[in-house]
Amino acid sequence: MKDTTIHLHSGFQIGRVDPRIFGGFLEHMGRAVYEGVYDPKSAHADEDGYRTDVLDALRRLRYTVMRYPGGNFVSGYHWMDGVGPREQRPTVRDLAWQSTEPNQIGTDEYMALCRKMGWTPMLTVNLGTGTPEEAHNWVEYCNSPAGTKYADLRVANGSEVPYGVKLWCLGNEMDGPWQLGHVPADQYAIRAQQAAKMMKDTDPTIEMVVCGSCTTQLPTYLEWDRQVLEYVGHYADYISLHRYVGNENDDTPDFLAISNGIDRQIEEMDAVCRYVEGKPGFASAWLGKKRAYLCFDEWNVWYRARGDEHQDGKGKFAPHLIEEVYNLEDALVVAGFLNSFIRHADVLKIANIAQIVNVIAPILTRGDDMLIQSIFYPLEMVAKRRDGISLTPVVQGPTYEGKTNGEVTVIDASAILTGQELHVFAVNRSVDESAVVHVDLADREIAALSDAELLTGPDAKAANSFEQPDLVKAQPLEDASIGEGKASVELPPLSAAAMTLRL
Ligand code: AHR
Repeated sequence: MKDTTIHLHSGFQIGRVDPRIFGGFLEHMGRAVYEGVYDPKSAHADEDGYRTDVLDALRRLRYTVMRYPGGNFVSGYHWMDGVGPREQRPTVRDLAWQSTEPNQIGTDEYMALCRKMGWTPMLTVNLGTGTPEEAHNWVEYCNSPAGTKYADLRVANGSEVPYGVKLWCLGNEMDGPWQLGHVPADQYAIRAQQAAKMMKDTDPTIEMVVCGSCTTQLPTYLEWDRQVLEYVGHYADYISLHRYVGNENDDTPDFLAISNGIDRQIEEMDAVCRYVEGKPGFASAWLGKKRAYLCFDEWNVWYRARGDEHQDGKGKFAPHLIEEVYNLEDALVVAGFLNSFIRHADVLKIANIAQIVNVIAPILTRGDDMLIQSIFYPLEMVAKRRDGISLTPVVQGPTYEGKTNGEVTVIDASAILTGQELHVFAVNRSVDESAVVHVDLADREIAALSDAELLTGPDAKAANSFEQPDLVKAQPLEDASIGEGKASVELPPLSAAAMTLRL
């Protein structure tokens, strides 16, 4: 294969990478909360019942924001069920996943977990079966000083100091007909505006995410977003995007070219935001003129663990739901998502991988054992090198045509500049050829390779298991050569590299 050059210039800056694009999502679903992060009976449980082995692994991923408590779950969730003395909390039927929810983890436990982990809380309110007033009450519970009803309830439950939750999502996937309380865009917009006003009146410092299109496949795609943004207007600090992808056709090159589709989805949503912002009359007298930024608050590979067998909890507590087993090609797609997010640093401000443990997650538990899945590694490789300014990468090299996703360069790339260091992320999508990749930062000399890692495996379908936990794993990448101020590295087929170069 011909060589590839990633051309960069420190003046060609896309924008500062918002650390919040490295967020996670924890839903009351399957074994994510119970048997995932929380398992008081586990040998690994700490004094609060959280699993230390799971939390230690999650720490390696340096998640910033943590979205909670759903997901589809939230559209039937009443936050008051999850506060107060644990023995008095009701056990309820969760209709989204047909499971039993004992409410042993709720707002106060989640906030304690956020503190333990250094996560920034991000709460989703119920705009499916809940009311704007219930949403407002939750903001008061979390953020108001003592002296009013819900703030006093928080104090009675043990937290004198307000939690100061800054990020609030106005419902979940409300455009999806599967969602409890789903309504057309104009009706959702009214609900969201009513809730947003009461929530912001309670705490003017909060930021809000309106529900955007949760898939590019519904006929309402983009039109939903236009209507919602126009009506909710300046209360929408962000609009959400969701994307789950899969290799249903067993076509690895096409699957790896999905980054084209992710780029396109971000750019289309950005275009709607700009269109609405640009319309005459959009500016409001009391809130001024401003655009909504993008919040990709659910994304991942998810296609095998689908259907009733995986999505119907049959009334059980903590059933095994959507426990996708990930392989090498999935990990490379996750690396592609991250590249796309970094390349859109100017408009994408928040993103949350769905989810963090057991449910479509980088980590699986089985009894007291824990497995690191392939998709863990690209997240960790980027998490170590995430701070700085995203640079425009111009990739010059061989291309191919994905059957459904169109033409892509064999090498997918992104880059982050931070002071005297340049971080470069590159995926070799070729299934059978190594690629020599040169990194050329036009206006500065690369002096040395500080450190680098490579993720690859025996074949596209190779997956870690409890029996073979290290089949797909990041390894140190040492044989990059530096010459004439440029770096060169050889990437094996089906691999992802993360390099830190000293300038
Ligand atoms: O992450 C699993 C589910 O996917 C979420 O509950 C929902 O929002 C999406 O459809």
